[in-house]
Amino acid sequence: MTAQLNARGDVAVLVPAAGAGVRMGPGGPKALRLLADEPLLVHAIRRVAAATSVRMIVVAAPAAEVEAVRAMLAPIADVTVVAGGAERQESVSLALSAVPGEIGIVLVHDAARALTPPQLIESVAAAVRGGLPAVIPVLPVVDTIKEVGPGEIVHGTVDRSVLRSVQTPQGFRHAVLAAAHAAATDPLTDDAGLVEKAGVPVTCVPGSEFALKITRPLDLILAEALIRLP
Ligand code: C5P
Repeated sequence: MTAQLNARGDVAVLVPAAGAGVRMGPGGPKALRLLADEPLLVHAIRRVAAATSVRMIVVAAPAAEVEAVRAMLAPIADVTVVAGGAERQESVSLALSAVPGEIGIVLVHDAARALTPPQLIESVAAAVRGGLPAVIPVLPVVDTIKEVGPGEIVHGTVDRSVLRSVQTPQGFRHAVLAAAHAAATDPLTDDAGLVEKAGVPVTCVPGSEFALKITRPLDLILAEALIRLP
């Protein structure tokens, strides 16, 4: 069933999925890897569309796949699909250009975090709505982290109480994200990183174990189990 987005919502969600080598079919990139017989991107978009304040979803796809991705997502929700760019950052910028100025909150999400609950999407959006310019969902770091040098020699143990593992969606006031992208010079920095560089405070909110990034074979096994939970 096609989900109805909230026409009065104040949130746009951008999903860059235009990585090199993206192609439809088996053996493709992670956004199209199958989980319970459906591409990760489909799972991700279904959950984004179920978040109650989402008015618009913009997916950046490889130019040659725009029509195919549009057709794949049409049964899920009314998703805007644009051609991405050469780098992830450019794909996010191009997706952002499709968002009208009156939508005040923009979230950047990762299709590989396909089981991200709609509630997490809402909690990030709510934190931005509450006045924070930039918000990222995080989990505490559970492993001991060592800093190492050449030859794998340990230099020291990092104080993990000050570390966080960052998930998506990352949420921003529309103007804050637009300004950070306009000023961006390092294509490798993530969206929150660009905003940090612009001197804007970025605030952490609690993430979710369900928002894990599904990339390794073990993640897929875990995701197959999680998706079957009642
Ligand atoms: O290649 P990498 O893992 O860094 O890509 C991260 C995300 O950014 C992927 O979802 C990929 O499809 C997306 N991407 C993009 N446009 C690019 C490169 C990557 O949308 N030109």
